[in-house]
Amino acid sequence: MSEWQKTGWRSKPRIQMPDYPDAEALGKVEAQLAKYPPLVFAGEARALRAHLAAAGRGDAFLLQGGDCAESFSEFSADNIRDTFKVMLQMAVVLTYGAKVPVIKVGRMAGQFAKPRSANTETVNGVELPSYRGDIINELDFTEAARIPAPDKMLQAYTQAAATLNLLRAFSTGGFADVHHVHSWTLGFTDGGEAQKYRDIANRIQDTLDFMAAAGMTAETAHELGTVDFFTSHEALLLEYEEALTRVDSTTGKWIAGSGHMIWIGDRTRQPDGAHVEFARGVQNPIGLKCGPTTTAEDLKVLMSKLNPENEEGRLTLIARFGAGSVGEHLPRLIKAVKEEGANVVWSCDAMHGNTIKSSTGYKTRPFDSVLREVREFFQVHGAEGTVPGGVHFEMTGQDVTECTGGVRAVSDEDLSDRYHTACDPRLNASQSLELAFLVAEELSARRGEVASAANG
Ligand code: PEP
Ligand code: CO
Repeated sequence: MSEWQKTGWRSKPRIQMPDYPDAEALGKVEAQLAKYPPLVFAGEARALRAHLAAAGRGDAFLLQGGDCAESFSEFSADNIRDTFKVMLQMAVVLTYGAKVPVIKVGRMAGQFAKPRSANTETVNGVELPSYRGDIINELDFTEAARIPAPDKMLQAYTQAAATLNLLRAFSTGGFADVHHVHSWTLGFTDGGEAQKYRDIANRIQDTLDFMAAAGMTAETAHELGTVDFFTSHEALLLEYEEALTRVDSTTGKWIAGSGHMIWIGDRTRQPDGAHVEFARGVQNPIGLKCGPTTTAEDLKVLMSKLNPENEEGRLTLIARFGAGSVGEHLPRLIKAVKEEGANVVWSCDAMHGNTIKSSTGYKTRPFDSVLREVREFFQVHGAEGTVPGGVHFEMTGQDVTECTGGVRAVSDEDLSDRYHTACDPRLNASQSLELAFLVAEELSARRGEVASAANG
């Protein structure tokens, strides 16, 4: 393969990207961004890759979640804090329940660009270009709002930088100290899963009291007081990605400076397309969405392009088939991976294959389908003897009503109460916690099986 260049994607077929009408304005923004500091550093991306390598072997578990799309209007410290809290809670449930280190990766600090199923949207006979995320155009249904504007990339960069700054402060400044395990609960999580969480928190508190008595505190054991938290987003808007791509001075290799992990969406994974061309050349961990139309042949080509050295932790395959379809598709892709002897992390996106229209007209996801897809994912890996390495989901710390079901059952009629998403329906805090309990259960059952197989 010819030597990779960060501009190489420009000569490949591109889809799902805007055609900016003002080329001069675009050029100025790109030049500006190229002068700005990267948001993440190569050493961090390498650390994440090492963690993911462990997930691929079954020695850690990837928890990747956050907004479908971050938005300029919902940007606030409270929103960031609440999403971060839910991630911490879910991680506690998994770490405690399944006794496995959890790798926390937010769909945050850069998740602004959205692929769309249609290029245009028609309302009352008026047809306009689709909304593609706040980094590209605006949600308002007017002609002006839907024109792609390059300066939105600068606002996205600024928001991502501020978000990451707060996340770093939360991670190391005391907020994520495990001694605060009780205070991560959100006021409105009062269902059965909240009680289960409090029980775990009590038991952790007991353990911490014991450890403190034995001389181990956040001061003496740094791990208790801080958390590793990573960022990720779909690398869809390649002008933005290219401008933030830099050479890592310690290795001389390229790194996408826009986030720790980037992924390629189900719509843009053409082996000869622009998005694969961009991703193959940067050192960050790469996610690849795999849907019902992913063929074994394409997957093999993609694995060899995206991970030619077959490095552990480099490539995460994010399966998103939909409840009821995992058994049809996952085994054939696992077979392709086995045939190639490829190192991958298998993760389950239980959201994107389960989107339906509710009887009340809202785009929603039945929580039962989400849980069912997770169960099917674990079942197939159990049958194949492969490692379920993580989950990928869309959620918010806000008490929204966007997905139906859950212990505090959201009905079709309830959806209109607090339906705030600009894009896909997200799990609320309570549903996220319930999901974490299911995953912890599946994972500890699975680890029990692996251990008993090893012992005899
Ligand atoms: C997403 O993760 O927001 C997304 C659009 O997913 P997919 O590419 O799997 O449809
Ligand atoms: Co989405």
